[in-house]
Amino acid sequence: VCADSLERVTTICVPDEQAREIVGSLDGIDVLVWNGKGSAPDLVSAVDMFVPGYSTEPDPAAAFEQMPALSVVQLLSAGVEPWLGLLPPGVVLCNGRGVHGGSTAELAVAGILSALRELPKFHVAQLSHRWERTSTDGLDGKRVLVVGAGDIGARIAASLTPLGAEVTLVARRAREGVHATGELPALLPVHQVVVIAVPHTPDTERMVDVAFLAAMPAGALLVNVARGSLVDTEALLAELRSQRLSAFLDVTDPEPLPPDHPLWDAPNCVLTPHVGGGTRGWQRRAYRLVREQAMRLHNGDRLQNVVGEAY
Ligand SMILES: NC(=O)c1ccc[n+]([C@@H]2O[C@H](COP(=O)([O-])OP(=O)(O)OC[C@H]3O[C@@H](n4cnc5c(N)ncnc54)[C@H](OP(=O)(O)O)[C@@H]3O)[C@@H](O)[C@H]2O)c1
Repeated sequence: VCADSLERVTTICVPDEQAREIVGSLDGIDVLVWNGKGSAPDLVSAVDMFVPGYSTEPDPAAAFEQMPALSVVQLLSAGVEPWLGLLPPGVVLCNGRGVHGGSTAELAVAGILSALRELPKFHVAQLSHRWERTSTDGLDGKRVLVVGAGDIGARIAASLTPLGAEVTLVARRAREGVHATGELPALLPVHQVVVIAVPHTPDTERMVDVAFLAAMPAGALLVNVARGSLVDTEALLAELRSQRLSAFLDVTDPEPLPPDHPLWDAPNCVLTPHVGGGTRGWQRRAYRLVREQAMRLHNGDRLQNVVGEAY
């Protein structure tokens, strides 16, 4: 058994040459390059871990058929929704939690600061060379409610607190420093900024609905860096049009947002096209995780980021 395990080779399949380069060489681990489409490379039948490309739309049935030894699918995204129910029985799904969290939290913070300090308004004035000094709001003393106390939520809290914000975290389970979702009706009216940083699951779909938005105080800012489907877009549009709330949205429902969608022109709404996690260099972070997971799989250690029961 000992000799067997010493000679055992683990085969992983990554989507492109850049990925192979970053993963590098590892003892006992073969790295194949294939994105699951078109003709498969030799040895694909030996693949233990398959890593689909970041923005790959899942159509994996044909790919999985050629990988009878598959035991792990490692995604590069934190969100897993499109892959649910598509994996062969017994194959473990792991996500890219941690890869995009820092940059997504950073964009949320940028969106909050930009909205409070009214950067879009000053930029419009700049375009017509107008020097228009007005006072703006600021973060100091603001109460910020972050729904989601995971990787992104914790990073947002850690960034905003030193700038003078008072941050409240909400998650499924209450624990020290974290409130449960049941407390939202009481918490929403006393926070001027609400950030959504939870995964899209059956429980969170449209969690930001008419009642949620109505509970936010007049003048409050909604920030969504998670998934567009967590927000009832029609309800948000009504709040934006009445100018009771403002929004910073990195994600929308639908995506991409069609050119004639009313959100583009909604008042006090700044949009970015789902770029939270995509800062330059994300590949290095992502394939470092793949490298670490491949070593764990090869050594029989516990995998990280196994997608659990929430889905
Ligand atoms: N804009 C982008 O480019 C971008 C990039 C990366 C990720 N995302 C999105 O952001 C999401 C969160 O990422 P993450 O890395 O922070 O995830 P994470 O570390 O897994 O944290 C998720 C948090 O959400 C909470 N949660 C789950 N279900 C909930 C519910 N029903 N009600 C309230 N809270 C709930 C969890 O609560 P517990 O702590 O109690 O378990 C946890 O605190 C991802 O799933 C993805 O959809 C977007």
